[in-house]
Amino acid sequence: MEIVFHKESKIFHLFNQSISYIIAVLPDGHIGQLYFGGRIHDRADFSYLLELAPRDMASYPFTGDRTFSRGHVKQEYAVYGSGDYRYPAVSVLQENGSRLSDFCYESYEIISGKPELRGLPATYSESDSDAETLVLKLYDTLTGVRVFLSYTIFSQFGALARSVRLVNEGSVSVYIERAMSVCLDLPDHDYDWIQFSGAWARERTAYTRKLEFGIQAVNSTRGHSSHEHNPFIILKRPVTDEFHGEAIGFSLVYSGNFLAQAEVESHGTTRFLMGIEPFNFQWKLEPGEEFQTPECVVVYTSEGLNKMSQSFHRLYQTHLIRGYWRDRPRPILINNWEATYFDFTEEKLLRIAGKAKECGIELFVLDDGWFGSRCSSRSGLGDWYANRERLPDGIKGLAEKMENLGMRFGLWFEPEMVNEDSELYRAHPDWILHTPGRSCCHGRYQYVLDFARPEVVDYIYDRMYQLLKDSHISYIKWDMNRSITECYSIEFPPDRQGEIFHRYILGVYNLYERLISAFPHILFESCASGGARFDAGLLYYAPQGWASDNTDAVCRLGIQYGTSYCYPISSIGNHVSASPNHQLGRSTPLWTRANVAYFGTFGYELDLEKISEEEKEIIRKQVAFMKKHRSLLQFGLFYRLKSPFEGNVTAWMTVSDDGREALVGWYRVLNEANGPFTRLRLAGLNAEQYYEICDVMPSDSYFGPSGQYGDELMNMGLITSDSSCGQFSDGRRQSCDFDSRIFYLKACPERMKDSTC
Ligand code: GLA
Repeated sequence: MEIVFHKESKIFHLFNQSISYIIAVLPDGHIGQLYFGGRIHDRADFSYLLELAPRDMASYPFTGDRTFSRGHVKQEYAVYGSGDYRYPAVSVLQENGSRLSDFCYESYEIISGKPELRGLPATYSESDSDAETLVLKLYDTLTGVRVFLSYTIFSQFGALARSVRLVNEGSVSVYIERAMSVCLDLPDHDYDWIQFSGAWARERTAYTRKLEFGIQAVNSTRGHSSHEHNPFIILKRPVTDEFHGEAIGFSLVYSGNFLAQAEVESHGTTRFLMGIEPFNFQWKLEPGEEFQTPECVVVYTSEGLNKMSQSFHRLYQTHLIRGYWRDRPRPILINNWEATYFDFTEEKLLRIAGKAKECGIELFVLDDGWFGSRCSSRSGLGDWYANRERLPDGIKGLAEKMENLGMRFGLWFEPEMVNEDSELYRAHPDWILHTPGRSCCHGRYQYVLDFARPEVVDYIYDRMYQLLKDSHISYIKWDMNRSITECYSIEFPPDRQGEIFHRYILGVYNLYERLISAFPHILFESCASGGARFDAGLLYYAPQGWASDNTDAVCRLGIQYGTSYCYPISSIGNHVSASPNHQLGRSTPLWTRANVAYFGTFGYELDLEKISEEEKEIIRKQVAFMKKHRSLLQFGLFYRLKSPFEGNVTAWMTVSDDGREALVGWYRVLNEANGPFTRLRLAGLNAEQYYEICDVMPSDSYFGPSGQYGDELMNMGLITSDSSCGQFSDGRRQSCDFDSRIFYLKACPERMKDSTC
């Protein structure tokens, strides 16, 4: 990993073993983009990449020189005007009403490691040798606004982290109207754009379209990153698949409103922008003040989408997720939500916990309904003290009872919200986000607290702190169940209302930071009506997130598959729930529900009092299986093999770092009659290694050899044929709809091919 500045040519080259990023100071003093892609040799001059040609119809800044126009060069942090007609990266409104800026290069700094982003989540370095940062300083003489462009390159990953800081060193206030985290001008548009979109209960479905002339974009205007579109985009070459070809992934480390946009201009180049959504955003920068954008992590690979995802997974696992739980296998939990909803007593909870303990489950999570007057979604939010009618000994007492059962104890909160019917709202009706004189929308009967105001965050912190200090709680599920629509804070003046969406999310980050500092051993799981805030920003605070309120195993294939493009498997919260499923009404086999949920942080969300002894025995085995393999499942190298978005069969696998163990998940939605013989080609194994195929779940579902060499498994494939093949059942286990299998592969160097497992 190195960052080189070639003084003569005024060119910066950032490179490591897999990527190169080249930036030039342009003839007009602005910063230009020359190259981003696979690693190339360093040389003193790449200015041949800055191609100029006479273009009379363009606007050119140098009188008499028709060859240079900002509209035709590739830029690093573009402004509108001065001949560039594309959407800009930055726009600053000035006292005289102008939005023109002229950010010219001043100087640079190369820093070992990676500085923190104050108040914001960001990737971090652990030593001076695992990352290096280039900071380019630009200055607009007329306004006195200084821009700092930051680029961090990591030694081990084909990744760059980019962010921007603006400082007003002038004498009058200015207003930032847009400040993107990344602006990347690519030389062509031969890309497919992949976005991860959906809605509540069907988050992060992958949608692919070809980049076309004009603008294509996704965004959130809802105050959270949203169910609708995830702040993660892939640009890939049309031929790129999971194992081959070029792809660039863009992940915004942010949980609020965002914009991701590609503009293909008339000469076929592509400008990619990603950052805070400019709609409803305006930030007043008084003299001496500064504004820090969120960070965008950009990964490049020439080895297909799996490689891109693995880079994100590894980078986020080791340089974004922090603290005690970062590298630790996560507890197997039982959550009472789908078991009881609001209808529970302490005895009921303890009975479920007792049964869970018998199955080997480690953590009991008490979901919504334990506080204030909360017996339905209509009341109680904001009153973070135990409902003594339900929990006579409070949270402290219940936590102790759980501990006596041998279970750890976790608790649900929704700290950012308040019901109208609550003590908190009655005491502070003005603490909600609302626009004076306008009606204020409810969502799920709740209002959004004004987290832009420090005193509101302080109050919630104190309430939570007291509870957590007094009781033995080892896990928190932090929920956020509605979008923000009337975003106005009565505490801020009119010309600062454009700041509230961002200030809100800074308040959320602030509360998280204080809580994890005070209670570093508590495991946080983020949630927002399922997966509305499954983003890289929250991974900095909560190492895992509830992927979706949809717990149906078949839907989960798509949700988890889509989530895996960016987010580590250890961060994806999955539960086995009841059948028929509560969201879909679909009945799926218990083994399939677990076989899907294993690939993530694993738990149960059903009433263990309502299951048969036989099912309980199966659950006991599932829990034992998860305990045996959870490090491999949560921290192995993950490969997507077959997409649920493309066919009836989904498959994925995870391989240990040393290549000696692997777990393969195979899932078929609908059964077939008289179908073909099938094989599944695996990936990431050691070709020379002989692997035993054992621990198959369900145990009677495999009819292939007891072991194969890595090269056989990767080239010929693992046998997945079952009784759906051919005409009669020959005594094999009957295959069915929603069927699935897990295969454990274990290196067995001493054994020869064809031996039995
Ligand atoms: C949201 C969450 C659920 C559950 C409920 C409780 O919908 O996503 O998992 O916690 O809230 O109200």
